[in-house]
Amino acid sequence: MYDSKIYMEALKSEIRTALVNQKAFACPIAMRVAWHASGTYDKSDGSGGSDGATMRFEPEISDEANEGLIIVRDMLREVKDRHPELSEADIWTLAGCLAVEFMGGPEVPHRFGRTDDEDGSRCPENGRIPDAAQGADHLRDVFYRMGFDDRDIVALSGGHTVGRCHEVRSGYDGPWTHNSLEFDNSYFKNLVDLEWKERDWDGEFQYTDVETETLVMLPTDMALIEDDEFRPYAELYARDEDAFFDDFADAYARLMALGCPDSCDPHAEESTDAEESTDNDDTSAEFREFAMHGSVGYMKRIADDADVHGIEEHSGRNALHKAAFWGHEGAVCYLVHECGLDLDVQDKNGDTALHDAARFGHQAIAEILLSAGADPSIKNEDGQDVATLAGAYEKPAIVEMIADGRGATESQQATAVETS
Ligand code: HEM
Repeated sequence: MYDSKIYMEALKSEIRTALVNQKAFACPIAMRVAWHASGTYDKSDGSGGSDGATMRFEPEISDEANEGLIIVRDMLREVKDRHPELSEADIWTLAGCLAVEFMGGPEVPHRFGRTDDEDGSRCPENGRIPDAAQGADHLRDVFYRMGFDDRDIVALSGGHTVGRCHEVRSGYDGPWTHNSLEFDNSYFKNLVDLEWKERDWDGEFQYTDVETETLVMLPTDMALIEDDEFRPYAELYARDEDAFFDDFADAYARLMALGCPDSCDPHAEESTDAEESTDNDDTSAEFREFAMHGSVGYMKRIADDADVHGIEEHSGRNALHKAAFWGHEGAVCYLVHECGLDLDVQDKNGDTALHDAARFGHQAIAEILLSAGADPSIKNEDGQDVATLAGAYEKPAIVEMIADGRGATESQQATAVETS
């Protein structure tokens, strides 16, 4: 699917800018949004989970556990606007996974495929997110319902190593660690090594550390060291950060995929066919990348294993678009004459390879495409045929070429392939 490394890098950078900027550091809350969107799942009937992005609708939007969380939707709105090909559900879960990484935690595998519902008809009933005032039995009720086990419960609770409680949102107050914007195992170290007492205050019942009286533990956090089955895992994670990172990444990735289409499962066994098609997809993406750089030799080397006609899912662009855009004459000739690419494929903006060549005044390429039969009358999403676009970009030679019905001669094209 979203095969290009460049695409993923760009998306990651856009999400980072949305969450980490001069106005905010929103990684902890993004992690929490992704968890609350997913943590409504019920394995007994398949309801709930992040598919559908149902947290946008009543009644889920008003579940008291989700108080104040919708702000993240607005923070990620620009990413959504720039990527209409992605659902909000996918963007929320991806942002949650990346937030962990941005804060120094493990890389959490994530795959796309969620869709957005039109309305709240698939919203689960409120009250499925755990209640911090309760203990181990409640944690088991809630997390077993989703299909998790005791080890997962402890690992996932380690999410509290970042962020803090806000009285206005939950009635609790304070951070779990002294470095609350860093994802590490200090939550477990604090839980196991520090002495805790009930906090004397007017708010919700919570614990505070005896030494500094600045940290918080919720009743559900304390259950991890009070319960005999949970405690060994909390101790393990307190002394072995790698074990925590591995278990957290594994459980959080599964959490994100609950109730979602199979394509979202980051741990799914690929079938042989799927593996082959993924290999082929990767090679095809590589082929397009070589076309973008005009590396005809490399393109030829992998052409037999690649789908040379392949189209990049998120942009709708093929290898010819890429070679034409960057003005690689030899690559364009190779693609047109030896690979037989369709000349008139339109990308997501409605542009053909000829539009791309015309926009940048790549005259030789426009000639090759025209003489091979590319259609200059095709209009892009802005309603521009190739001559109109060339005019708008002040490329009169190309406007003239189209008016004359001109194209490169066969021998000019043969020279271009040979010299590339
Ligand atoms: C085990 C049951 C859980 C309970 C009862 C619980 C409860 C809470 C509560 C009451 C808050 C404070 C919210 C606020 O006042 O802003 C909070 C914050 C947070 N929770 Fe949990 N949570 C649980 C599990 C998780 C899990 C599984 C994750 C992620 C893996 C997670 C990630 C977070 C984060 C990152 C924050 C800080 C948000 C911020 O700084 O805005 N929690 N949680």
